[in-house]
Amino acid sequence: MTKNEGIQLVDLDEDGVDRAFRNDVLEGLSQPQKALPARWLYDDAGSQLFEDITQVPEYYPTRCETQILEQRGPEFAEAIGPGRAVVEFGSGSSVKTPLLLSAIEPGAYVPLDIAGDFLRAAAADLSAKFPGLPVYPVEADFTKRVTLPDEVADMPKLGFFPGSTIGNMVPRTSVDLLRSMRETLGTDAMLLIGMDLIKDTAILEAAYDDKKGVTAEFNLNLLRRINRELDGTIPVENFHHEARWNDTFARIEMHAVADADMTFSVAAREFAMASGETIHTENSHKFDTRSSNTLLLAGHWTPMGRWTDDKGRFSVILAKATIARAAP
Ligand code: TRP
Repeated sequence: MTKNEGIQLVDLDEDGVDRAFRNDVLEGLSQPQKALPARWLYDDAGSQLFEDITQVPEYYPTRCETQILEQRGPEFAEAIGPGRAVVEFGSGSSVKTPLLLSAIEPGAYVPLDIAGDFLRAAAADLSAKFPGLPVYPVEADFTKRVTLPDEVADMPKLGFFPGSTIGNMVPRTSVDLLRSMRETLGTDAMLLIGMDLIKDTAILEAAYDDKKGVTAEFNLNLLRRINRELDGTIPVENFHHEARWNDTFARIEMHAVADADMTFSVAAREFAMASGETIHTENSHKFDTRSSNTLLLAGHWTPMGRWTDDKGRFSVILAKATIARAAP
């Protein structure tokens, strides 16, 4: 396992409280529009709930992307060619990654993740499924440039970033990420990236507010986590989950909406909310052909090919590292 230096996974204070979590929460709850960074949604309960979300009938992205990877294998093989080191940003899911790896003839597989446990589990799983394939897991924060293992130095790279995770970032962050991916992967790299599409608002809102209430549970779990880990008194039962389409930003927003006027404390600080006021917890940006192309180009990637599922709900885009040349 290559360990990139300088990663601080958790910084606990003398009471065992995660300082970064407390700082983010106190700062986020002090804004006029209360907001919490989405990464805190994923404690153990949250990660399990997220797995459950991908199974609810309304949540189409996972099924649509999987269908594309299943059905378009020969086209990927043709466009990508053999011998690339597949560098996955985030530990591979048990379903999507094998579909890609068996469609093309990869030279190696390099999963990158900040969570060592997930990383090792995913790497072991993949090694078992592809006995001849060299697997080099790297524990790293992939939002920064990552040094890849020497073993893949001479192979051309294929970055893999499924799940429309790029859409969970605001544009300036996603552009920064695309550029550091480009730095990590080198000049002759390609990138295969999943990007969810703009569509009927009712379909989008339902995907993030399923009837069974799994997404609601996922969202409100963050408030429970705050109560548990930061000595909070948030009356979680006085909140409901809302998924709303923001057309200006072309994104679904998840909010926890207060159903009553209230006061509560977190880490010994007092907060007040009026009925109807919200805590914004997640964004999921959606794209059309042009907006996805523009985002990729801004991130120094040139789109080469694009595939959608049979209902036209989700896209998988292949891009190549942009070669710098004189403008225009
Ligand atoms: N990137 C996926 C999406 O935006 C998965 C995801 C991230 C998600 N955060 C989420 C799904 C919150 C539901 C709720 O759809």
